[in-house]
Amino acid sequence: MGKPAVVILAAGKGTRMCSELVKVLHPVCGEPMLAPVLRAAHDLKPRRTLVVIGYQAERVREAFPDQDFVIQEPQNGTGHAVLCALEALQGFRGDIIVLSGDIPLLTSSTAGKVLAVHGESQAEMTVLTAMAENPDSYGRMVRNKEGRVIRIVEQRDALEKEKAIREVNTGIYAFRASFLRRFLPTIGRGNAQGEYYLTDLAVLAGKRGTLATNQAEDFLEIRGINTRVDLAEVDRVARTRVITELMLAGVTIIDPAITYIHRGVRIGRDTVIYPNCHIEGRTVIGEGCQIHPGCRIVDTRIGSGVVIKTSCVITECTIENGVRVGPFAHLRPGSRLCRDVSVGNFVEVKKSRLGPGTKANHLTYLGDSVIGRGVNVGCGTITCNYDGVKKHTTTIGDNVFVGSDVQFVAPVAIGDDAVIGAGSTITEDVPPNSLALARSRQVNLEGRGRKKDKG
Ligand code: UD1
Ligand code: CA
Repeated sequence: MGKPAVVILAAGKGTRMCSELVKVLHPVCGEPMLAPVLRAAHDLKPRRTLVVIGYQAERVREAFPDQDFVIQEPQNGTGHAVLCALEALQGFRGDIIVLSGDIPLLTSSTAGKVLAVHGESQAEMTVLTAMAENPDSYGRMVRNKEGRVIRIVEQRDALEKEKAIREVNTGIYAFRASFLRRFLPTIGRGNAQGEYYLTDLAVLAGKRGTLATNQAEDFLEIRGINTRVDLAEVDRVARTRVITELMLAGVTIIDPAITYIHRGVRIGRDTVIYPNCHIEGRTVIGEGCQIHPGCRIVDTRIGSGVVIKTSCVITECTIENGVRVGPFAHLRPGSRLCRDVSVGNFVEVKKSRLGPGTKANHLTYLGDSVIGRGVNVGCGTITCNYDGVKKHTTTIGDNVFVGSDVQFVAPVAIGDDAVIGAGSTITEDVPPNSLALARSRQVNLEGRGRKKDKG
């Protein structure tokens, strides 16, 4: 047998999600649920993979710009969806694997097994089934006394005794292309939803004696997402898989049940992730780091030996080796903390570069600034980077000492080795190696304290 073709059904709205967003774009472990289905498909090394889209087709295209799509308009059911794909597969004569875009836990080995059973049994239609604890919302596999499948019945069309059947249709199939071409155009829509059901083909293949089934070992893997309840449960399983892979590769996750790491995040050995951390997007973390409880880190590159203390929010930043951040720091997009920087509690950094060894340990805002190496930024220092219209840059040289409670009114530049006196409002550039004081002198008026003069 030559290479198969894969058809992924993703045109439906997903009414039961009660959402503005098409179902297959709802995220699981940080990526649209269609993404892992596509990966499983690609692992099968098919001749072609076609995704059938319809509802919010443009949004799905945008999310997967390199993918081949077929439009189904209107969405008249899973049988009609496959018919649309068949038109695009003209001349293709091998096997066609049909997957649903709403089954993100599917692995390529399970899909591959369906194809193998299909080939071995020389079937025209092979259905992957599974035993469900709770079969509600799945099509039931109705078998006769001899154990042969005679039909697949949807929940809404099922008789009471059929509803008790626990063997369900997973929505994953292999077909011979010739069988689909011949019989798919003949199915009707006489069911509760008035749709063309792909599952109706089971009756025809059954009568021809060319229907095979294969039972999945693990119901969880084929769990479909129809509602947000399913979404949360599937997400939990997907998350567990990601975290398990990381742990087996040498990352300590203190409590996997309450740690949230997106698929695609990379973390080095001997890094410890404490509970309630959310590590998202394209984040990469090096070796031997500690990420203390309650941090959210998004699209950030972190070197090795870094400590992020409790409750930090870090987005689109670069953090080099040996840096210490937090607790309670907010690092906003475009910030770079060079090696051995220390950023402490209640410090916010935005679009700024802090040179090696620089420290800003308490209650500070650094925005649109370029800060050299070995600088000490005192408590309460802020860059006044915004004049109400434009943002301006603050430049601070190497080895500068900034006293506490300093305001830099940008644009302003401070030379190397300068010292800025505490409480200064710096509006003009400071030359290298100078002491800048920009505050009014202290006045002491004797006898004007709280004790009244009795005389
Ligand atoms: C379907 C099966 C059911 C099976 C279940 C497994 C049918 C009639 N029922 O039911 O037996 O147990 O999957 O998860 O096939 N889609 C389209 N175009 C359409 C309608 C749907 O592309 O016109 C897509 C959807 O976007 C979705 C997939 O097909 O990705 C399945 O559709 P859905 O409505 O979720 O079917 P189920 O009710 O779950
Ligand atoms: Ca479904």
